[in-house]
Amino acid sequence: MMTARLVPDGDAMSNVVPLGDASEIAEGEMKAFAVEGAGRIAVYRVEGGWFATDDLCSHAVASLTEGWLEGHTVICPAHSGEFDVRSGKALCFPATRPIRTYPVWVEDGRLIADISAARTDPAASGAGRQSGEGHPNG
Ligand code: FES
Repeated sequence: MMTARLVPDGDAMSNVVPLGDASEIAEGEMKAFAVEGAGRIAVYRVEGGWFATDDLCSHAVASLTEGWLEGHTVICPAHSGEFDVRSGKALCFPATRPIRTYPVWVEDGRLIADISAARTDPAASGAGRQSGEGHPNG
């Protein structure tokens, strides 16, 4: 389990967490990292970009990284709820509440997240479409 360290960020302190080696996640893949005080954070590598969200589905208890990643959409293994990994927006029923997102970047080959900057996009609430559209269980 990774432990956060506080670093100055202007007048505020950031909770910056080293997660692991960026090479652990191939393009189009995802992986969860346990972070003390923040639960499990899921990191996604999509089209050369890095994204991070809570690993816990907002619908019930399931690990999103045990599901599927299709482009910027992660599909929950429990009931096939879908989320946009960029915004945390719930895209499909039964997932209706967004998941938190975190700033994540690579520094000297290491994945770093700022857990103090966790964000739930207020515009990301509500399922955008019904299930059954283009996922493995659909
Ligand atoms: S637990 Fe993820 S959709 Fe139900």
